[in-house]
Amino acid sequence: MPPLSTSAPGVRQADFRFRCIACGDLSDRASQDFRCSHCGDLLEITYPLWKESAPEAQTLRATWRQRRLSQSAVDLSGVWRFRDLLPTLASDDQAITLREGNTPLYELPQCSRIAGVPRLFAKHQGLNPTGSFKDAGMTVAATFARLAGFRWVACASTGNTSASMAAYAARGNMRSLVLVPEGKISWSKLSQALDYGAVTCQLRTDFDGCLRLLQQLVLRAPVYQLNSLNPFRLEGQKTLALELLEQLDWQPPDHIIVPGGNLGNSSAIGKALLEMHSLGLISRLPKLSIIQAEGANALVRTLREAGGKRLVSVQAETRATAIRIGNPASWKKAVHVLEATGGACAQVTEAEIAQAKAEIGAEGIGCEPASAVTLAGLKMLVKLGFVKPEENVVLILTGNLLKDPDFTMEFHRGDLFKDTADESATADLNSLRRPPIVLDATLDAVIRTLEQAEKQPAEKGQAE
Ligand code: F0G
Repeated sequence: MPPLSTSAPGVRQADFRFRCIACGDLSDRASQDFRCSHCGDLLEITYPLWKESAPEAQTLRATWRQRRLSQSAVDLSGVWRFRDLLPTLASDDQAITLREGNTPLYELPQCSRIAGVPRLFAKHQGLNPTGSFKDAGMTVAATFARLAGFRWVACASTGNTSASMAAYAARGNMRSLVLVPEGKISWSKLSQALDYGAVTCQLRTDFDGCLRLLQQLVLRAPVYQLNSLNPFRLEGQKTLALELLEQLDWQPPDHIIVPGGNLGNSSAIGKALLEMHSLGLISRLPKLSIIQAEGANALVRTLREAGGKRLVSVQAETRATAIRIGNPASWKKAVHVLEATGGACAQVTEAEIAQAKAEIGAEGIGCEPASAVTLAGLKMLVKLGFVKPEENVVLILTGNLLKDPDFTMEFHRGDLFKDTADESATADLNSLRRPPIVLDATLDAVIRTLEQAEKQPAEKGQAE
């Protein structure tokens, strides 16, 4: 008999509706492509009952704390533990959960010195069950897919969404269809989808091409789409911010910095911050900033060239393949959260991404390249004076170091930028490189190597 979950008296589960982000149309149902039936724009989930009787902040905090002592599956999930701010389940055992969330908040003292801020934290979403932040959204969206009676779920992906979707589909006894760009995602991510039993199609196109095709597919075949266009995904991803603020004892940091690809995650975190603020869980809004790779900078250009009014798409190219996206679906939602929280949007170079990734790795934390744009972006925002020298910052690390071992190996071997325009820009990164050393299997050889390593200067920013 599974243990019972906890819900304090007076905390009612949230009831929801879909709202179009452009025309504001409210409805109880969403079409297969999750677009407004009137104007075709994206939908978001809204909780109309909060207008009359919003859940009380003190009660919510106490309930969420109390649930940490429970052994029930929904309370052990770092997502469903916050279910009072999620769409309602008729019963707790409907949730498809792998105990996602519950991710650590690490302090990064070396990186904070490098960036020039007093305290720097990393919320490591790469420590989720399938190694990325996608699991927080997937547990919710997969659950609602199964409740809607779907046998098949599908996504277009740069790798992490597909790994996560395949796992949750398998746990929920659904079948999954993955569309990924051929040759442009890491083997680690692809292999996860295979192992979790997905039907995996490598399409001869990029991520944007895969997503376009999926949007057509869901209108023709009974498959439920689990990309971040699906607003249930974003509700789950909101909990990253709830858990973060709980870890900070509800004292908001000055800045939260997140990578931007398809722009679902930044939209979700922004929505969570705005909801927490309106419910009185936090007294002020942190600035939420979004960082993109220079070669996949659609949002940067949308703001710079079109004032955030229309999307400026790009032909995306970056070694941070998770964010190799030129036509981000949730750009309007992202523009809204930037405006609402006063955040910035910036781009960083390939060399800056590689450097930041090695610096995070050198703290014993590690992340995948797309996550490292946050530290590279922070350095830039400090230089620009947007982040002040006395302000506290949280970086959202979205994926695990092991997600892209090729990038890491090529960086340390010095091959990452070989014969590219970035080669000279990265010459000064040598102090961060730790290539593997092939030796004869003798004690002498190992001792000599140890002695040589001892003579090497400590890394930039590392304690002497
Ligand atoms: N970081 C990682 C590790 C990602 O996998 C992604 C997106 C992002 C950042 C960007 O997040 O799209 O919400 O702005 N990966 C998607 C995928 C697109 O298919 O796995 P976003």
